[in-house]
Amino acid sequence: MGNLTYFDFLAKFGVGGAHPGGILLTQDILSKEKINDQSVILDAGCGTGQTAAYLYQHYKANVIGLEINPIMVEKAKSRFDKLQFPISLIHGSIEEIPFADQTFDFIISESVLAFVNKPKALNEFYRVLKKGGRLLANEMTINRPVNKQEAAEIMNFYAVDTLLLEDDWMRLLQAAGFRQIEIQTQIPPLSHGNQTPEFNFSTNFEPELFHILNEHGNIVIKYQDTLSYRVITVTK
Ligand SMILES: C[S@@+](CC[C@H](N)C(=O)[O-])C[C@H]1O[C@@H](n2cnc3c(N)ncnc32)[C@H](O)[C@@H]1O
Repeated sequence: MGNLTYFDFLAKFGVGGAHPGGILLTQDILSKEKINDQSVILDAGCGTGQTAAYLYQHYKANVIGLEINPIMVEKAKSRFDKLQFPISLIHGSIEEIPFADQTFDFIISESVLAFVNKPKALNEFYRVLKKGGRLLANEMTINRPVNKQEAAEIMNFYAVDTLLLEDDWMRLLQAAGFRQIEIQTQIPPLSHGNQTPEFNFSTNFEPELFHILNEHGNIVIKYQDTLSYRVITVTK
């Protein structure tokens, strides 16, 4: 499969709402928050920008997308341009957020934290949130400890350095200084997939990316009782 990764698949297929529960879960999470047209919101790891676009369309919020993958940045940009939405897009990393302390009222990070240096990114989230600001995340979480072989298979596929149990997320969030930590188990399970898929295909993409899609399906089914996700909401 060469060096192609799950993220290459997501980027080249232009998967929108590339997180468990899709845009419907996003809308549900957002509806419980006090978001309005004064809110300054960072979509951290915004992918093709589906959530960022929704935040502007629905709340007229001031939205900034931050994304590390240049293909994703391009696809998010074309979405915002087409819709004529005034959403700023920054090419950069959530491990080193190019904004001043206390800039944002909200940060939404959907299936991004799990893939990065978590303490680093959480410290950055804490730094750039205003006092009382909210972090909303939807992150891969394992339901039980896994053995070495299982861990290797999952971590290798997703190219992650750790797999976190709910308690591990709790400890990391506390260490970063967050309070009012809520970690919610979600229904439906990961194996039900995204019920509202959206694609924006690149004109050229490697056929091997279909193997990655397949392999993803296999991993999700094989570990359906183990590999899951949680909605995490916390306050600075
Ligand atoms: C699973 S996708 C989710 C994308 C988007 N949040 C969504 O729900 O559709 C993860 C995204 O995080 C981006 N990403 C990975 N590491 C990142 C980092 N250090 N900083 C910013 N974005 C990152 C990837 O390029 C990818 O677009």
